[in-house]
Amino acid sequence: MKFYITTPIYYPNSEPHIGTAYTTIACDVISRFYKQKNYDVFFLTGTDENSNKIIESASKLDKDPKEYVDDMAVLFKTIWKNLDIEYTKFIRTTEDYHIKTAQFVFKKLYDQGYIYKGLYEGWYCIHCETFWPSSKVDESKLCPNIECRRPLNYIKEENYFFKLSAFEDKLLKYYQENPDFVYPDYRFNEVISFTKSGLQDLSVSRKYNNWGIRVPFDENFSIYVWIDALTNYISALGYPFELDLFNKYWEVAHHMVGKDIIRFHAVIWPAILMALNLKLPQKIVVHGWLTYDNQKISKSKGGDIFNLKNIALSNDKIKISAIRYYLLREGSFGQDIPVSLERFKYIYTSELSNNIGNLFSRVLAIIDKKLNKQVFKESDFKYISLSFINEVINNFDKGLSNFNYSKAILEILNLADYLNKVIEENKVWEIKDNKLNQIMYELLYSLIVLNKMMYPFMPFISNSVIEQLNLDQDSLKWDSKVSEIINIKERRILFPKIENVDI
Ligand code: ME8
Ligand code: MG
Repeated sequence: MKFYITTPIYYPNSEPHIGTAYTTIACDVISRFYKQKNYDVFFLTGTDENSNKIIESASKLDKDPKEYVDDMAVLFKTIWKNLDIEYTKFIRTTEDYHIKTAQFVFKKLYDQGYIYKGLYEGWYCIHCETFWPSSKVDESKLCPNIECRRPLNYIKEENYFFKLSAFEDKLLKYYQENPDFVYPDYRFNEVISFTKSGLQDLSVSRKYNNWGIRVPFDENFSIYVWIDALTNYISALGYPFELDLFNKYWEVAHHMVGKDIIRFHAVIWPAILMALNLKLPQKIVVHGWLTYDNQKISKSKGGDIFNLKNIALSNDKIKISAIRYYLLREGSFGQDIPVSLERFKYIYTSELSNNIGNLFSRVLAIIDKKLNKQVFKESDFKYISLSFINEVINNFDKGLSNFNYSKAILEILNLADYLNKVIEENKVWEIKDNKLNQIMYELLYSLIVLNKMMYPFMPFISNSVIEQLNLDQDSLKWDSKVSEIINIKERRILFPKIENVDI
């Protein structure tokens, strides 16, 4: 069984922030979950480095563009590593193999008549590298992008266009035949109505400006970033020069994206793939935006609320684990998610520290102090319902397999609540006779299951648990059996009181 998951490749003209971290963590959780199920997983992330905005960002720091993107790629990799992101490959679109693929794709589309040279006349924003239809431009003749609002230029110039209009019917047919292509379905409906409203050909080149990938047969032009950027998903797998990885993983591709770039992924990219005669990805998974004060968080707006860069660079693993958990437990996947420090602290205290953390420390303390650090299976389960545990596991699996992260986390809490109830109802701390071993075995067994469920979200914490129990990495796999004798090697506090965590 195989699984291919991708993040968007991020523009390195701003540093990673809590919004980009959200997508990347969401992919990491899925990737770890499938690895636990013994899938062969390829997890791709990277940076989208060829935009003209890079020139501007670099010159502000007195760097040349190449030096600038090199430094930013290091920063991205460091931050992802510290956030426990276990990607398979990090792609940079300034790398040679990618450039060759992007040029190959451009040329092939041109040779087949899907890219043609035409005259563009209309409004253009140099900063955003975007052509704006007159219908979007008001009296002021300023860029319609509210974050830009710079004066537009009226231009008339040659340009290469991709014949997106030729794919309208084919796309609509594909959508109809593949009702799971875009998740969640209300996002799919947006894609379908956008496509039905009529597709226009798309400008796919810019004047060459000493940065970016050149059009292979016309050196006055560079390939506009989207054709270049989207091809990263196949160039990373070696397409078209080394097809081993491509043949293995492409058919199980899942692209995770924010709703800001849904059209690129669910309309334009499928049309390009159809033109190349390649299979379409299995699924486009679309999430909403993290918001703060009702606004989309970006580097400039609310981007510092969790001070992601500092947290990641400080490498405080408990805080990092808690942030991974918090971001994915909130909201309903696909919808916007308001985030705040107050809410984070509340979730940390009520769910991680007081509930899950406390549960582990109660059980381990009793085994440590009263059972000489060891429990063993004496009989069939008497205190804990294995069918309840199996139901929790099934629901968790169903949740995560459907990218329903908050549902999966509810199952974690559901199991923790149940185990706390078993402790209370049996007054475990009062048991003095030989009943104690069996009930503690059952509880610890259940905690090992709980730990598997926590693993994709908080790998650092789960690894800490298996170290305390002297278990190996394999005990995190879904098909691993819990052994009949378990020893506690040492005890650690999983989530210290919030007062002791510097947030
Ligand atoms: O669009 N909430 O790069 P980008 C949730 N290079 N997710 C957010 C977010 C927020 N507030 N802010 C950003 C690009 N994101 C292109 C992509 S792919 C072939 C090319 C995440 O740096 C979200 O996943 O602007 C969004 O889609 C992505 O960052 C955009 O990153
Ligand atoms: Mg963006």
